[in-house]
Amino acid sequence: MASMAAMVTMGVAALFLSAAASSAMAAGLQMDFYSSTCPRVEEIVKDEMVEILRAAPTLAGPLLRLHFHDCFVRGCDGSVLLDSTPANTAEKDATPNLTLRGFGSVQRVKDRLEQACPGTVSCADILALMARDAVVLARGPSWPVALGRRDGRVSIANETNQLPPPTANFTRLVQMFAAKGLGVKDLVVLSGGHTLGTAHCNLFSDRLYNFTGANNLADVDPALDATYLARLRSRCQSLADNTTLNEMDPGSFLSFDASYYRLVAKRRGLFHSDAALLSDPATRAYVQRQATGLFADEFFRDFADSMVKMSTVDVLTGAQGEIRKKCYLVN
Ligand code: HEM
Repeated sequence: MASMAAMVTMGVAALFLSAAASSAMAAGLQMDFYSSTCPRVEEIVKDEMVEILRAAPTLAGPLLRLHFHDCFVRGCDGSVLLDSTPANTAEKDATPNLTLRGFGSVQRVKDRLEQACPGTVSCADILALMARDAVVLARGPSWPVALGRRDGRVSIANETNQLPPPTANFTRLVQMFAAKGLGVKDLVVLSGGHTLGTAHCNLFSDRLYNFTGANNLADVDPALDATYLARLRSRCQSLADNTTLNEMDPGSFLSFDASYYRLVAKRRGLFHSDAALLSDPATRAYVQRQATGLFADEFFRDFADSMVKMSTVDVLTGAQGEIRKKCYLVN
């Protein structure tokens, strides 16, 4: 007979699945979208992801971030993957996206799926699956990915102004998330994605050297812990440094856990946008609760929930868009 704990777990899983399924259905996506046209799609993506991360473990963060940057500009339609053409500068070549990585891995998975099921699986779906598997393989939570996204044919550099910049304050972050149908809870939960990966010095060095424009050693962000500031200055020695990489969650930047919140609570979040989560009572309460380290299960469930929401933002379905043959080119 199933134990009470197992029954409760099963009940929670069923509830979650139905919430995810209903949000996906509302967006026109389906859990079993490729069941007759490419039944092994999830297995193929997963197998490739195991190989990709075995060869390059640091790609887990970038592959999660690619999906976020895809969904925030024209919806999750693979527009972030398109190359510029002589007539058009694509999202990929806009400033916020110059630090993206992992495009080659996406194409590798696409090629593998074109062999198995030609012309069937969209690049937008591939990104959604790769982001999920990246988190799972980094020992984070899993979530069901409903499928059936179509690939867009348009990618415009200027539209990346819909991506929140690292300098954003709380009000701006809330507005930018709301514009994508995401709430304050999604903001604080998805910011937890910064448990993975690295950041270039120049994306936060204004906090170390030039916070108000005075550009001197006293011109620092008062919201940044002084000891941490000194450590960051020793790594990022000038405002101009745009090459040095910093682990966003030092010591565990390859594993998905709740330690991001411990850092933010200690005023050691790397970006102004991370620190901004302490400036609002509701997000501060979430950060402080997670900083105790006692509620990681809750963070994992929340992250899974918010990813399901984010991965359905403004998707193209049905006869909209196309199924690209190459992720970097319209057909
Ligand atoms: C809340 C607003 C956000 C801002 C302002 C922001 C900003 C940034 C910036 C500036 C970087 C550094 C890029 C680099 O220097 O290479 C970064 C990295 C990253 N972001 Fe965010 N981000 C936000 C939300 C998110 C969300 C929602 C996710 C995913 C759920 C995410 C996942 C990541 C990951 C995984 C990295 C590391 C990438 C790597 O290792 O190359 N971020 N973010």
